[in-house]
Amino acid sequence: MEINTDVLIIGSGIAGLYAALKVDENFRVILVTKKNSAESNTNLAQGGIASVIDPKDSYERHIEDTLIAGAGLCKKEAVEILVTEGPERIRDLMKIGAHFTFKDGKLDLAKEGGHSAHRIVHAADLTGREVERALLEAISSRKNIEMMENHIAIDLITEHNVFHLKEQEIKNRHCWGAYVLDAKSGVVKTIKAQKTLLATGGLGQVYLHTTNPLIATGDGFAMAYRAGAKIGNMEFIQFHPTSFYSSSDYSNVTKPSFLISEAVRGFGGILRTKDGQEFMHKYDSRKELAPRDIVARAIDNELKKRGDEFVYLDITHKDKEQIKEHFPHIFKNCLEAGIDITKEYIPVVPAAHYACGGIVVDTCGRASLKNLYACGEVTMTGVHGANRLASNSLLEALVYSFRAASDMNSLIGKEAREMPQIPSWDDSGTLTADEKIMITHSVKEVKQVMWDYVGIVRSDLRLDRAFHRIHNLYLEIENMYKKTKVFESILELRNLITCSHMIIKSAKMRKESRGLHYTLDYLKPSEEIHDTIIQNRIL
Ligand code: FAD
Ligand code: SIN
Repeated sequence: MEINTDVLIIGSGIAGLYAALKVDENFRVILVTKKNSAESNTNLAQGGIASVIDPKDSYERHIEDTLIAGAGLCKKEAVEILVTEGPERIRDLMKIGAHFTFKDGKLDLAKEGGHSAHRIVHAADLTGREVERALLEAISSRKNIEMMENHIAIDLITEHNVFHLKEQEIKNRHCWGAYVLDAKSGVVKTIKAQKTLLATGGLGQVYLHTTNPLIATGDGFAMAYRAGAKIGNMEFIQFHPTSFYSSSDYSNVTKPSFLISEAVRGFGGILRTKDGQEFMHKYDSRKELAPRDIVARAIDNELKKRGDEFVYLDITHKDKEQIKEHFPHIFKNCLEAGIDITKEYIPVVPAAHYACGGIVVDTCGRASLKNLYACGEVTMTGVHGANRLASNSLLEALVYSFRAASDMNSLIGKEAREMPQIPSWDDSGTLTADEKIMITHSVKEVKQVMWDYVGIVRSDLRLDRAFHRIHNLYLEIENMYKKTKVFESILELRNLITCSHMIIKSAKMRKESRGLHYTLDYLKPSEEIHDTIIQNRIL
């Protein structure tokens, strides 16, 4: 089945939805999303959206905080755009219908690690759910936008899979849309588009323990890589310091870890070892409010040193009613797990949370293939550098998806159309029961390898070991993929393997410790500042 559209958007988190709303209403938009429309990282976001709203705060301070967290690798221009255009995007979100928490007639601004001011706009501790709700509601009344749920993008359509153009040089490649699997019917649709925008979110599912939902299998990173787009700084995986620990959940690798928001530390939460001792003062003068890489490494170090499974986050010294008012969702979830956070310490551990690198885009969201755009977590805009500042992710998604939509609006219909004959998807193939079991086992293997060898602390030996393990899995699964009909779990496994490969490859290229990439073999940052850019030239 072949469908034509002006704009194809892949993903219905904050980036995809906001971009769709900002595309000119005269253009047809198809928005595909792999589960139901609300299933996304966005929907789970707790803390909020960082932005300079308080007159006592300043753009300079937010820029400076972002650059400090980024450990020398942020692109200053990208950060300036993020910070200065942020407040306008927040106001627009409110116009669209998002209800944020107010106090004394003003937006209630929270504080989080690495921020020198109160600047986190939030909807209690369910900010993402409120943003997702408001955007989906606005989309439902837009006639030019067609949402296709349970549609999983398999691959971008470029010269690499339009057979007679396979030899096209990588620097002249185009994107003409995507092959998309309708998960309910099993039919693969060819969606041809003038402009394609990847807004597929993160890749947390690469790791054994992650705050990310099951959809976060890194599909966009992998599709773009296979198509030959430039991908940058994939080694910078952010581990959130505080996800809820329960022994039963910890052994269940398919259940995302429940996040205990950074805002809890911003509210005065104190980290303690199992015997009740504070420890953050030993690692950083900002203690609990140091940037995430520092806090996560400190916890990891305490756990390894002491052989404990978790540390505690203690908020019991704060007013009971205020805790419940600020963190109703966290309070309820912990209570259901048997912890009353107003009286008891919360057991926490770090978990994979966010990919700081991704598809390299310019300030208009353009990727390195013509007509391909990307925004949100799947990108590397240059905003986060080696470590993202808390609550800058939702802001980045808003600011840069707006810019991508504006750029598409200015170009659609004004350029010469260059679309070759696109072949339909070849869906011959079979799958045996044995092969299905291999998929489940291989997913577990990927997650375990990445957690054990490519986690918070790395080394050359660990990376080499991971590289070989993942490469063997790659060979096995590619072989199977070529013989089978496509279905969701094999697509996701293939993408998890590709993302693991990219993370390890980039990590091996970085011979220093910087931001989120910490290696025992090179303990200090090097004097030379560089991004690690990879591009797949073999397809
Ligand atoms: P997502 O919201 O993840 O959306 C991706 C979409 O793409 C989904 O709809 C998914 O189904 C779809 N998709 C993926 N692959 C395919 C495919 N192959 N075909 C079709 N569709 C596909 N950031 C902050 O700034 N502040 C916070 O408070 C905050 N809290 C967080 C709390 C948690 C628990 C988590 C996990 C993250 C948090 N983050 C926070 C990070 C932030 O939520 C994400 O980075 C951001 O929401 C990403 O938005 P996105 O639109 O890029 O991707
Ligand atoms: C949190 O609430 O701690 C998550 C914030 C973020 O990921 O930026």
